[in-house]
Amino acid sequence: MSERIPTYVLGGTGYVAGELLRLIAGHPDLELKALLSDSQPGEAVGAFFPHLRTSWPDLKFSSLEALGNALAAEGRSLAANPAPGGRGERACALFSAAPHGVSAALIDGLLTRAADAGARVRAVDISADFRYSTAAAYEKVYKHPHGAPARISDFTCAVPEQLRDLRTPHVAHPGCFATAVLLASVPLLALKMIEPRLFVAGITGSTGSGRKPTEGTHHPQRHSDLYAYNALAHRHAPEVTACALAASGVEADFAFVPHSGPFARGIHMTVQATLTKSIDSGAAIAALQDYYKDSFFVRVDAGSPRIKNVVCSNFAHLSAAANGRSIAVTCAVDNLNKGAAGGAVQWMNRMLGLEETAGLTAPAPGWT
Ligand SMILES: NC(=O)c1ccc[n+]([C@@H]2O[C@H](COP(=O)([O-])OP(=O)(O)OC[C@H]3O[C@@H](n4cnc5c(N)ncnc54)[C@H](OP(=O)(O)O)[C@@H]3O)[C@@H](O)[C@H]2O)c1
Repeated sequence: MSERIPTYVLGGTGYVAGELLRLIAGHPDLELKALLSDSQPGEAVGAFFPHLRTSWPDLKFSSLEALGNALAAEGRSLAANPAPGGRGERACALFSAAPHGVSAALIDGLLTRAADAGARVRAVDISADFRYSTAAAYEKVYKHPHGAPARISDFTCAVPEQLRDLRTPHVAHPGCFATAVLLASVPLLALKMIEPRLFVAGITGSTGSGRKPTEGTHHPQRHSDLYAYNALAHRHAPEVTACALAASGVEADFAFVPHSGPFARGIHMTVQATLTKSIDSGAAIAALQDYYKDSFFVRVDAGSPRIKNVVCSNFAHLSAAANGRSIAVTCAVDNLNKGAAGGAVQWMNRMLGLEETAGLTAPAPGWT
């Protein structure tokens, strides 16, 4: 039996699923076994992801039935063959990049089926379905019943750099905007350096809206333009509040204004707040550097974070400026990578006892 970890991806032809496949192609320990497509089962994956054809020339999208069968069989076989030398946990890896409202029921069904077969599975959900700690909180924002309320307590939602001790078998990725906001704000909240009222402006690239074309993502509309949308009413703002509370112990108010940027990948975030005590920019940067001193993927310095320096990578760049009682923290991440697929692989690495950085250390290309 292969020593690599059997890996399953939900999210088919979507952009985040594509990014997961790109990362798995270069991962030393994960081995892709099946990729679910709701609309294209049996079709060649390379037809939708031509840049991945060399990695999987013969891979075809799976149906849910076929993926579930493979997961149960592979997981059962792993459980019957303990890890040689105690290297890593013998479990299958399941990533979901399915849409919210769909993901929870899919994951729940697959986990139930795997458990019935005696298989162990670790899951990371990149959708919003397991980001809240109660079904009621989810339903208030998303306006439909939660797909698997009994599973919610099996998931923790956090940025990997902000939670050392994971106590649940599965993880909910906080999402792309939230990753940038949380990286910028949680240290300051946890250290009680700021008042818990934050003003946040974030600019995202067009891949943040997924593969399906809409008026707002159409190239002639979006190219060479920049505009705000859903000001103070974005659906991810309550998720940020919940994650920030869990990570910092402080209940904070995030006044969030998202913007559409004229680029395909990347997020640039500016978080402003009132300092509890005046400090200068050097002290603000030093506080962030200290908080992230053991975080390989987070770089904090005086230079202005630029999306070109992080796009296509799992790295986050942060900086800060302080003047009197005002502080502004800026953060750049890639929405599809650190903000979705990369952050999910980072969590999976940790859950499976692998090097947390495995398969993720490639720097940004720099000139995208
Ligand atoms: N884009 C980002 O920057 C980003 C960042 C963080 C988190 N996320 C989250 O990640 C997830 C995927 O985002 P995305 O940008 O990749 O979206 P996307 O490009 O719209 O892709 C989503 C894919 O899900 C599949 N799907 C649709 N209905 C389905 C169903 N009923 N059952 C199973 N699969 C279904 C579709 O592929 P098939 O038709 O082939 O099944 C679709 O292409 C979403 O939950 C999103 O909120 C996205």
